[in-house]
Amino acid sequence: MSEHLSEQPSDHWSQYWSRGPLTSLPEDFQGNYDGEIASFWAERFQRLPTRARLLDVCTGNGALALLAAEHAHCHDMRFEITAVDAARIRPDLIASHRPDLAEALASIQFVSEIPMERFRADAESFDLVMSQYGIEYCDQSAVAPIVASLLKPGGELALVCHASSSDMVKTMQRELLEYQRLESLSLDRSLSAWLKGQLDSGRLRERLVRVGQSIYPAFQSSRSPLFGFVLQAINQLARLDERGLRQQRDGMEHLLSQLQGGRQRLDDMLRVNRLLESEDWFQPYLDAGLVQVDHGDLLYRQQHHAGRWFIFRRAGQD
Ligand SMILES: C[S@@+](CC[C@H](N)C(=O)[O-])C[C@H]1O[C@@H](n2cnc3c(N)ncnc32)[C@H](O)[C@@H]1O
Repeated sequence: MSEHLSEQPSDHWSQYWSRGPLTSLPEDFQGNYDGEIASFWAERFQRLPTRARLLDVCTGNGALALLAAEHAHCHDMRFEITAVDAARIRPDLIASHRPDLAEALASIQFVSEIPMERFRADAESFDLVMSQYGIEYCDQSAVAPIVASLLKPGGELALVCHASSSDMVKTMQRELLEYQRLESLSLDRSLSAWLKGQLDSGRLRERLVRVGQSIYPAFQSSRSPLFGFVLQAINQLARLDERGLRQQRDGMEHLLSQLQGGRQRLDDMLRVNRLLESEDWFQPYLDAGLVQVDHGDLLYRQQHHAGRWFIFRRAGQD
């Protein structure tokens, strides 16, 4: 499998992370990953030497790197943590949303706008390479030899990946249908046409009202966060006169880019999940000399399937 998804810094992810969420699933996790996901990682961290080097691949806003930093702080360990992402990551912005994390963030070395395929560091320098819903976005055949060479002998690669059977992926599939519904109602085209001066304000209002009427019953039964967000925006915009709409131009551009970015991220996530359905998606890591030590399913809050975990080791130490 060599289809890769994003070797270039991805605007839609940069845009998403600039809004300050800690994870890519803010509806499932209000802050950082917790419950069984956090426990899974705590167990990996606990096995590390007191002084260890860790690499978080596809870190996003550093959720997993932060779990590691907090673990080290609480257990009197000294972790040197590097966190890589192809998107633009701004620890200062994350800290402005979460001042309580400023110290932990400052202890992490973020490598922003560098795809993992181009990340370089000293060979055999990391005790743990880790990724949460991340490494699967990379070109596996390019990244596997890099990861294998970065690991110390005996070092571990630990991953939590989405799985098509996970509850999060089911939510994503539902959300895709919602985006398709909004597209069939031409919401994005109407906003875009008005912004370009190709649609007058009266017609825009009519179309917004029509979109609202069409999705409201679905929102009532599903409480869909996407429909809720769109309805709130539509209700505000549809009440504005010509002047009010002009004053909201920036807001409308923002709404459009949030819808377009959201759809792109969803496409990314679902495409990655289709790749993960292949039983041998991780073969490049075995070809690069790592040995699969263990794997399993991750149950969140004892009931939600939150994906699959994998542990690989570089030979060289027991
Ligand atoms: C689903 S998010 C997960 C982020 C984070 N690990 C988390 O759990 O919140 C996937 C991340 O992978 C990043 N990404 C995609 N392709 C990449 C690549 N080739 N190299 C580095 N990062 C990449 C995206 O920018 C995005 O931030």
